[in-house]
Order: sequence, then C-alpha cells, then structure tokens
Amino acid sequence: MNTTYSSKEPWKKVFGPVLVYLNSAPTPDLLWTDAKRQMATEVESWPYDFVKSVDYPLHHQRGTVKGQFFVMDSHKNKTKIFGEFAFVGLALPGKAGSWQTENKGYQFWTGADKMGMFTLANVRPGNYSLYASVPGFIGDYIYEHVVTITPGKEINVGPIVYEPPRNGPTLWEIGVPDRTAAEFYIPDPNPTLFTKLYLNHSNPPQHRFRQYGLWDRYSVLYPRNDLIYHTGVSDYKKDWFYAQVIRKAGNGTHQATTWQIVFNLKAVTQTGNYTLRVALAAATAADLLVRVNEANSEPIFTTGLIGRDNAIARHGIHGLYKLYSIDVHGKLLRVGNNTIFLTQDRCANLFSGVMYDYLRLEAPSEVR
Ligand SMILES: *[C@@H]1O[C@H](CO)[C@@H](O)[C@H](O)[C@H]1NC(C)=O
Ligand SMILES: *[C@@H]1O[C@H](CO)[C@@H](O)[C@H](O)[C@H]1NC(C)=O
Ligand SMILES: *[C@@H]1O[C@H](CO)[C@@H](O)[C@H](O)[C@H]1NC(C)=O
Ligand SMILES: *[C@@H]1O[C@H](CO)[C@@H](O)[C@H](O)[C@H]1NC(C)=O
Ligand SMILES: *[C@@H]1O[C@H](CO)[C@@H](O)[C@H](O)[C@H]1NC(C)=O
Repeated sequence: MNTTYSSKEPWKKVFGPVLVYLNSAPTPDLLWTDAKRQMATEVESWPYDFVKSVDYPLHHQRGTVKGQFFVMDSHKNKTKIFGEFAFVGLALPGKAGSWQTENKGYQFWTGADKMGMFTLANVRPGNYSLYASVPGFIGDYIYEHVVTITPGKEINVGPIVYEPPRNGPTLWEIGVPDRTAAEFYIPDPNPTLFTKLYLNHSNPPQHRFRQYGLWDRYSVLYPRNDLIYHTGVSDYKKDWFYAQVIRKAGNGTHQATTWQIVFNLKAVTQTGNYTLRVALAAATAADLLVRVNEANSEPIFTTGLIGRDNAIARHGIHGLYKLYSIDVHGKLLRVGNNTIFLTQDRCANLFSGVMYDYLRLEAPSEVR
C-alpha cells in the first residue's frame, strides 16, 4: 500500500461518518432482513447531508462519470462486445491496476450492467484515472485521459474499449479470468476443524473456501507427488488445487512444490514465440519459477519474491491481482506432449504460496 509521505507533504482523508444500527426482531433471519433493508436506505442517503465540514462535499458539490465499457479480444470475438458486469472505478491517477495498492486518495467504484453501462455518482472533485477490469478477460484497463471531476457536473466518457493482452489464439486455458481462485478445487476441511456456519443455504457453494486450514489439505491429497494437470483431460474444477502451497514433509520440514501442466501440440512454430499468461489471484512470500520440458533446466521466468496479501492464511480466495506474460520460444516446444513446470520455490513461511486466477498458452500470432 502507498502510505509513504515526503517531508511536509500535506495529507488528509475523511473516514465516515459511520452508522451503527441496533435492531431487534423475533428471529435471527428477521434481524438480518431488517439490517439489509436499513443498509439499502443508508446507501440511498449517501453522501449524508447532515455532515457540516469543508472536508466532506455534499451531493451537489460532487460530480458524476458515465460511460459504456466494451471489450475487444481479437482472437475471441470478431468485433467489440459489451463489457458485461465490468468493475469500473476512479482512483488517483496512476498506471493500469495501480488502484490496488493506492490508498492515499479516494476511490469510487461501481459494477457495469450487462451492456457495460456504468455510472459513478457522488464523486469528490479532483483528478482521477478511470480503471476497469471485466470478468472473463485478463488484465487491467485504464482510460487514456485523466478525468477531472467538478462540482455538480456530469462527464460522459462515451463508449470505451478495452483490448486485453493477446498475442495469438488460445491453445489451452485453465480456470476463468475473474481474479479469484473460486472455480478451482476447494477441498473439504479437516473434519475436526470444520465451521458449520459456512456450510449452508445462505452460503453459496462458491464460498467453500471459507473454512479454516484448507491449505493443509494439499499435503494430505498430494503426500508425495505434486499435482499434474493434463490439458484436455483434467478438469480444473476437480484437478487444480485452489492454491499452490508448500508441502509438509512429515519430518517437520516443508518442501517447495512443482506443478506440471502437460499439453499436446500437433505442430510447433519453431521460430516464433508462444505466450504463457499466468494470472495470479493472490501471493504470499512466494517465488514462482517457470520451466519448459526440462524439469531441471534454467527457469525461463521467475517472479522473484512476491506477495504479502495473506489470502491463504486468512481463508480468502483472492488478494492482489498480478498478470505475467511470458515468452516461450518455439524451439523449447515439440510436436507431441510438452510439460510446463511451475515451482513455488519458497517454503520458509508456512503460508507461502500463490493462488492462480487463470493460465493460458497462446500460439504465435502468425498461426491464425
Ligand atoms: C487536475 O489536473 C489539471 C491539469 O493537469 C490541473 O491543472 C489541476 O490543478 C488538477 N486539479 C487538482 C485538484 O489536482
Ligand atoms: C444444511 O442444510 C441442510 C438442507 O437444507 C440441512 O439438512 C442441514 O441440517 C443444514 N446443516 C447445518 C449445519 O445447518
Ligand atoms: C501424452 O499425454 C497424454 C495425457 O495428457 C497421455 O495419455 C499420453 O500417453 C501421452 N503421450 C506420450 C507419448 O507420452
Ligand atoms: C524430510 O523429508 C524430506 C522428504 O522426504 C527430505 O527431503 C528431507 O531431507 C527430510 N529432512 C530432514 C531434516 O530429515
Ligand atoms: C521472443 O521472445 C524473446 C524473449 O522475450 C525475445 O527476445 C525475442 O525477440 C522474441 N522473438 C520474436 C520472434 O518475437
């Protein structure tokens, strides 16, 4: 997080006002329903008009940004399509994705509708970048201009088009690019550590990850050999563990883990670069090494030490998003079966590891 300040740098930020709502009702379900109703009322009343402070602009002193978000992924769709349910937001001017670690300024976010239409209302005056990401596509969007919000004014940025990173057609993919690991295999908890609260109707199945100690299940499911994924045969919902964690060796030590992706190529363009996209949903004290076909070769890529988001230890399913685009030279590949080795090399910390969001191999662009 950016919380560094230079000497004499002025800074202030308003937190709140904060509402504490105490209710009473005959049953827990009614308490919950009433609390949700009250929350909807509060959301409608925001920003509150009773606050009297120069640091708290009222509704008429704030501005609005509207627009429509589209996506153009050349190897997936011939034309631009609606940025369905995109997340669109304003934060201090920066680089694409920089809002994730920015907290000195104010941020304003909303979800676009099915047609990519979005409205960000009640934005404090100032300069912002417009950021977005959209489920189903990798990477981060940033609008090319700084957006200046002025009191009472509405800005329409019109149709804006995101072109996610893409070098060639998809050869295989694992998971769904949605910035979480929720679609992967989430094990049953250790029966002695099981929290009943998270097992029922009000908690959808995609919340299976909210159990204590799931990281430890890796050593139980893979006591000696690490995960091997066969593209076209394996199913990421069952065969891709939700986090690449360390393994307990049984003698009190921990071991690094190497996962393999086995894939078949009918033809190889020896002279071109293939592109491996590795999108991470979270990372903690990890270093991810990528090797191709030779388990003991020099890695073609390493992330270096990354991640302090602790999603693994805190029963989360995502932390900060990271996208790596790795050139895989055609001469490293062969006709027939190939293997990509993913090694998480750090094991000093019990919670070292990564959660993948999505992986994809693209052919060189000339193979269209
Ligand atoms: C916003 O940006 C413009 C143009 O760079 C600048 O003149 C103005 O002072 C900025 N406003 C704020 C509030 O930072
Ligand atoms: C969960 O829901 C099922 C079916 O609605 C019910 O039979 C079961 O008792 C519930 N379990 C808990 C722990 O609440
Ligand atoms: C290639 O991998 C597939 C599974 O991914 C396996 O069934 C097949 O036997 C392998 N072929 C060779 C030649 O190793
Ligand atoms: C612990 O077990 C692992 C895996 O069997 C082995 O590689 C390692 O050398 C052992 N360490 C100690 C200190 O016994
Ligand atoms: C392939 O990738 C390497 C490493 O990034 C780069 O140096 C080289 O120029 C690329 N070759 C082609 C044909 O794009």
